[in-house]
Amino acid sequence: MRVRSLCALGLRPVAHLMMPSAVPASEQSIADAADALSQGRLVALPTETVYGLGADGLSAQAVARIFAVKGRPSDHPLILHVGSVAEAKKLAAHWPPSADRLADAFWPGPMTLILKRAECVPDAVTGGQDTVGVRVPEHPVALALLHAFSKVGSGVIAAPSANRFGGVSPTRAADVVLGLGDFLQAGDMVLDGGDCTVGVESTIVDLSRDQPRILRPGGLSRDAIARVLSGDLSQQDTSSMRSGATVPRVSGSLESHYAPRARVALVLPEQMGVMASQLLAQHPKYRIGLMPFQYQLLEGQVSDRRLVIHSMPDQAKAYAQRLYAVMNDLDRLGIDTLLIACPPQTVEWEAILDRLRRAAASVDNSPTMGK
Ligand code: TXA
Ligand code: MG
Repeated sequence: MRVRSLCALGLRPVAHLMMPSAVPASEQSIADAADALSQGRLVALPTETVYGLGADGLSAQAVARIFAVKGRPSDHPLILHVGSVAEAKKLAAHWPPSADRLADAFWPGPMTLILKRAECVPDAVTGGQDTVGVRVPEHPVALALLHAFSKVGSGVIAAPSANRFGGVSPTRAADVVLGLGDFLQAGDMVLDGGDCTVGVESTIVDLSRDQPRILRPGGLSRDAIARVLSGDLSQQDTSSMRSGATVPRVSGSLESHYAPRARVALVLPEQMGVMASQLLAQHPKYRIGLMPFQYQLLEGQVSDRRLVIHSMPDQAKAYAQRLYAVMNDLDRLGIDTLLIACPPQTVEWEAILDRLRRAAASVDNSPTMGK
């Protein structure tokens, strides 16, 4: 029974019995997690990109619980994680030469390939589509769990990011517990493998059609993929550098996604101080979060105890690592409006810009409008 429903009955929950705590990854806890997966339980696991909410990817029943816990519509497909290229091939009905080239170059790593699905892949995973997303993650705990699970079960882990649908992905085990703990059941587990090193989700490359295309920019750069595909990459994709266009049925491509609860606005770095001051003056009760770059000396310009300032790294890699942790922290502080300094519009910032735009698209983009 969930903590909330106990409260509704007037009973005091015993917090440590109700809310699962994260278990440090060890040989024993990884073996326990593999057993849990083989029994249809959920296991939140670290990957190098973000934490995933894992279930046995070949069990429709186990996968159904992912959708319930995330609150995710059932037609949004899941990525299947496996421990090797050989296992990935078993999930695809057709494995084109481009898949070999990309897998050789970037797996294990932050890249998901979309391929025609094999018969063994349940409809529940693909949302009824004839394609499947597959990835070999690089995180040692994810790989160890996949290995252990291949001994006692299918070795295939379906895992979306371990957050409620539409929200901010977790890059720390504590964020998983705080975000999903209320929805997990006895026997489910959260494995703690430390903070994610990439910090944004995998790059999704669709190889199921004539020409490869990127459906979601992510931890692996478009340039790296284009180099390996030597010019075969379609320009008609969701590049946020060009159009911000969306592709149907890729939930990560919904305009509003990856969004904190606060109203988010992307602002020019040099305008942040003035906008913050205006907001404070207009809304005396607001708590305002600011995410300037480290080089901005904002603290001198605006000082008010209703402001919470998280300075962000100037380098894209370091920025990506921090992004979701900062957003999750600000969310928990009950920030009303979050002003984020807009990064440069260059290829190395593409995935970050994509996520920031989607976070800002969740609400009216004007920070002076009512919520
Ligand atoms: O880095 C990541 O990709 C993380 C870690 C846990 O691996 N996973 C992740 O999963 O971000 P999720 O479910 O939050 O986002 C996966 C995206 C969704 O937007 C989904 O719609 C898309 O991948 N996707 C999955 N299978 C697909 C398919 N067959 N065709 C098109 N898009 C697909
Ligand atoms: Mg997600």
